[in-house]
Amino acid sequence: MAVTASAPGKVILFGEHAVVYGRPAIAAPVHGRRATAEVVPGEQGAGIYIVAADKGSSYPHTAADESLALAARLLLDAVHRRDTPPDLTVTVRSTIPIASGLGSGAAVSAALMRALAQAMGCPLPDDTLNALVYEVEKRHHGTPSGIDNTVVVYEQPVYFVKEAQPAPFTIGAPFTLAIADTGISSSTRTTVNAVRALYECAPAHWGRVFNKIASIAEAARAHIIAGRVGELGPLMNENHALLQTMTVSCPALDALVEAARAAGAPGAKLSGSGRGGNMIALADGADHAKLEAALREAGAVDVVFTRVE
Ligand code: MEV
Repeated sequence: MAVTASAPGKVILFGEHAVVYGRPAIAAPVHGRRATAEVVPGEQGAGIYIVAADKGSSYPHTAADESLALAARLLLDAVHRRDTPPDLTVTVRSTIPIASGLGSGAAVSAALMRALAQAMGCPLPDDTLNALVYEVEKRHHGTPSGIDNTVVVYEQPVYFVKEAQPAPFTIGAPFTLAIADTGISSSTRTTVNAVRALYECAPAHWGRVFNKIASIAEAARAHIIAGRVGELGPLMNENHALLQTMTVSCPALDALVEAARAAGAPGAKLSGSGRGGNMIALADGADHAKLEAALREAGAVDVVFTRVE
């Protein structure tokens, strides 16, 4: 019988990039975009065989350069089965666009490990799964903060500080975000390295920029807890302006941000690592159909609405 598991995508509401330098960030799951993994018995002696359905590729868990194979090996280590791998075929699919700032890498790893662990009769506690997905992220992205794996594993909005216990927090009043995709793929490793290069040239200056972003994230947390949704828009706009100075926006993202604001969104910003990927806009107070039409007109290849609650 097949065993399936899944994990959602994520959006960063405030604090991307600065979070890599120990500043707080706020992120939420995107339940409408998910990675799923389905495990069925495999051929005898084949070990774990991975089918990446969206990419049209497949390989054994021993494949050297594949992050899903690495995820499978880390799982086998965690359950002490590296020398006795079970014969299982795991098929991974995802509706989260790749390299778009929505946490697709963390979500496919989480879904694969969760499904395999269940099929092996060793379901993983979320804390263990989170640590394992973080390990995959580190090997693939260099210096991730850990925010992506935390949100996709716990599936809750989170106030996140690197290396601290993740802190889920109460949402005083639910709100809706429009997420618009530029259709431009962008590597997290590249943008994180670009920000690091800037930081190393002028650490005091960029430290101050990160501190401003930290203050925005702190203020946003207080407003979210108190249900003061209207206060979030200006903070999103301020955060986007600071990300622009960090060179992680791009004309396509700026066009979507401008279009969202012109269509009545009280605030908009890039989300995730930037230079492509997705933009988020606060959709409360805006006409959703008009907002979506304006975003598509400005170049969005996809628009989804997600509720943060
Ligand atoms: C990527 O989703 C968010 C970044 O802040 C990198 C990270 O936190 O690891 C750009």
